[in-house]
Amino acid sequence: METIYLDHNATSPVRPEVADSARPYLTATFGNPNSIHRFGREARAAVENARREAAALIGAAEPEEIIFTSGGTESDNWALRGVIAAAGGTGHIVTTAIEHPAVLDTCKALEEAGVEITRVPPNGKGRVSAGDVADAIRPDTRLVSVMWANNEVGTVQPVEEIAAICRERGVPFHTDAVQAVGKLPIDVEAAGITLLAATGHKFNGWKGAGFLYVRKGTRLDSLITGGGQEQNLRSGTENVSGIVALGEACRLARVEAPAAAQARAALRDRLENEICERIPDVVVNGDPAHRLPGTSNLGFLGAEGETLLIRLDLEGIAVSTGSACSAGSTEPSHVLLAMALPDAAVKGSLRFSLGWGNTEEDINRVMAVLPEAVERVRAMAPRARTTPDP
Ligand SMILES: Cc1ncc(COP(=O)(O)O)c(C=O)c1O
Repeated sequence: METIYLDHNATSPVRPEVADSARPYLTATFGNPNSIHRFGREARAAVENARREAAALIGAAEPEEIIFTSGGTESDNWALRGVIAAAGGTGHIVTTAIEHPAVLDTCKALEEAGVEITRVPPNGKGRVSAGDVADAIRPDTRLVSVMWANNEVGTVQPVEEIAAICRERGVPFHTDAVQAVGKLPIDVEAAGITLLAATGHKFNGWKGAGFLYVRKGTRLDSLITGGGQEQNLRSGTENVSGIVALGEACRLARVEAPAAAQARAALRDRLENEICERIPDVVVNGDPAHRLPGTSNLGFLGAEGETLLIRLDLEGIAVSTGSACSAGSTEPSHVLLAMALPDAAVKGSLRFSLGWGNTEEDINRVMAVLPEAVERVRAMAPRARTTPDP
């Protein structure tokens, strides 16, 4: 059976160009970039090339502001814990209620250690207001952390506006841009962003390689100490092949944008429009005016999202529910709950996330299968609701 992958927000396929670029660093050019001999110098050159590509993609003033990490979770942990540690371990953080657990749970841990946290709620479309963030800033606020785009509903936050407020108030601003890098235009220099987390596997690189952008002059303690790699900020022998793959993914994203984003949004819109036209009682969760190009989170009222996911999986179509991204979780999504959506929209939510490699044919296949699947799943819940809670 032909399989269709519509779960690119969870992870994305490694593009052949990316794999080809990194392959030599798994075989012949296996050197340690910290070695002085030829093998080491070749690996070092490749790592520095990737650093330039990452800097170019996000508009960093200097490549040295890119510090390679193991991915988004480490980058987010480092930004939050590193800023607080540099400030003496105390203070206040402003964040949102819809962050990924990499930020949410780190804030919870910091809270248990005595740091005060304000979690700004979103509106019903998953967007926080820059004014609410501004109102939450206090004299002892050490950091504001707001994600660029939400992984579940795709809502894009007013990050540039928030960054400008933070700059004016002299507070460092961190953004978890894991879902935005490679998909949306980003210019950290123009926006005045202090820290930005990214990971390669969300835009066709591979798992275990990401970076933290650290604006020059930022006060940030190291979390990982040792051999002093990455300008003595993040120790450990570099993941050369992963970093090279990340660099190539950054280059491809830069040269292919914005045409790739437009094509992806058009495909997503076609899918969403056809679903809403052909299947009754479907609601769009998220903000169609401010949304990642490939993401559509839909509430199939009266259906159980998990059951629908399994039915689609049996047909070879991979999507996810609102609870995806938290390994093995079947809890209702904290994002949809924070948006105060009706119960039926939360329970019946499915996320379609499109990316590189998806075609019109994929949408045809989904539309050939989905209407009947929804009907069957709704029929399995005899007392199912077809109207949302008030
Ligand atoms: C918004 C967001 N932040 C952070 C992460 C974690 O990134 P990684 O898987 O590279 O640790 C993810 C991945 O699911 C994400 O979607």
